[in-house]
Order: sequence, then structure tokens, then C-alpha cells
Amino acid sequence: MVAAPAHALAVDQPVTKEQDKEKEKEKQSPDEEVSPAEDLMREHGVFKRILLVYGEGVRRIDANQDLPPDPILDAAKLVRSFVEDYHEKFEENFLFPRFRMANMQIELVDVLTVQHQAGRTLIDITIKYANLSSLRDSSDKRQLRESMAEFIRMYRPHEAREDTVLFPAFRTIVSANEYDSLGEDFEKKEHELFGDDGFEKMVGRVATIEKVMGIYDLAQFTPKV
Ligand SMILES: [Fe+2]
Repeated sequence: MVAAPAHALAVDQPVTKEQDKEKEKEKQSPDEEVSPAEDLMREHGVFKRILLVYGEGVRRIDANQDLPPDPILDAAKLVRSFVEDYHEKFEENFLFPRFRMANMQIELVDVLTVQHQAGRTLIDITIKYANLSSLRDSSDKRQLRESMAEFIRMYRPHEAREDTVLFPAFRTIVSANEYDSLGEDFEKKEHELFGDDGFEKMVGRVATIEKVMGIYDLAQFTPKV
């Protein structure tokens, strides 16, 4: 246990109030610390919105409706930079090895690792075929459709399993200190790679893509009951 500094013990009520105010300020600050699980789960939120974009892409191909390639390409590039090269790298470098060391969730971690690789292969295909000339060719268009459909099919359960099993278990295999410092490392890396408002920028990018695809307006999904 660390002893409280002498000055903190010597002055009571006013300092406590000040400290309370400081704590309150920290709570309201947008820079407030985000725990590793919250960080990873909100990144999953961005990822889920990309899956919705892909879902709309698949729906339009199936319905023979016009599909602009650019939002699909942008979404795939966002997956590459934000999900694969950043979010999944963190899972692979910081979470998965700790589970292996703790001899916990080994089978799950193995499947998740293989799926990250499969995801990369699918994104390569999506990037290759998300262009106007491929959309005019029925075989290429089918490849594009399949790459998006398979991506959605794999990542829905993948994310759900991470959110409900892996991330909660992660909290139990690291100490409170390590957990906190990992949260800081995650945030630092995010700011380094994508700027101070990196996460907000990603949300903005995905919102722009949703608008082009006509799925941004949330109210359109409310059933008329
Ligand atoms: Fe993952």
C-alpha cells in the first residue's frame, strides 16, 4: 500500500472538495481514459457499421440495383487500416499471447487468429473488384458479392464472441495495473496512428460512406408498427 502524501492528510475538507471537482472534470473530459475492453468494443462498433455497408452492397447486387464502387472500396480500405493493421494487431500482440500464457481460451484464440488471416484474404478480393469495370462483369461482380457476404458471415460471430467471451475474460487474466496501462498504450497508439481524434475521425469516415450508400438515416429502419 502507498501512504498518502503528508499534505493530503494535513488539509482535509477543502482539498477533498477540490479533488472531487477534479475527478468530476476528468469524468466529463473527452480525454478521459478508456479501458482496453471499451476501446476494443467501440472499435467493433465502427466495424459493425462497415458490415452494414457491405450488407447494403450485397443487397443491391442481389436486387440488381445500382452499386457505386467507391463507398465499398473506401469501406474495405478502412477495414485494412483501422481494423486489420491496428485493431486486430492489438488483439494479436497484446491479448492473444496473454491467453496462451494463461492457458485459457486457446481454441477460441486459434480460431480468431485464423479468421483474421481469412479476413485479410477477403479484403484483398473486395479491394480488387470494387471498381466500375468489375461491376460490369458478371463473374467479377459475383466475386465481389461473395467476398463481402463471406466477410459479414465470418465477422458477425467473430466480433460477438470477442465482445462476450474474450474481452470480459481478458479483464480476469491481467492485473488491474497492467489493465490500466494497456488502456493507456491503446489510446497512445491510436493517437499516434490516427491523430488525437482518431476514433472520432473513423466514425466520421464510416458515416460519410453510409450516407453515400443511403443507410445513414437511422429512422428509416424503424418499423411502422
Ligand atoms: Fe478479432
